[in-house]
Amino acid sequence: MKSSGDGWVRICASDLPPGGIVGVTIGSEDMVVWRSMAGTPCVIEARCPHQWSHLAGEGVVVGEELVCLTHLWRFTTGGEGWKENVNGRRDRKGDLVVTDCIEEDGSIWVRIVG
Ligand code: FES
Repeated sequence: MKSSGDGWVRICASDLPPGGIVGVTIGSEDMVVWRSMAGTPCVIEARCPHQWSHLAGEGVVVGEELVCLTHLWRFTTGGEGWKENVNGRRDRKGDLVVTDCIEEDGSIWVRIVG
């Protein structure tokens, strides 16, 4: 079982559904927790690297990616940023920092290493 004494921080309940996105603050860092449609949880920095939209408000999950609705950059669960063009070509864009998380005891946790 996790506890805050060993650096683990509970950030939200495991009932975040596929496609769900929630904003969290850990220390002074704004992050979002999202779950891919296949069920993978992901903790990622909250601000789109393009023009700083907050992905808790401007993000939507499409398959295994978090898409910023402002200009449609998209991010994998590994944080890679892409832009998909009308013809389907995908171009690399800015990345987001991902914080490793685990799902245990009915919660999603991150470990803060100080
Ligand atoms: S602000 Fe996110 S794609 Fe432009």
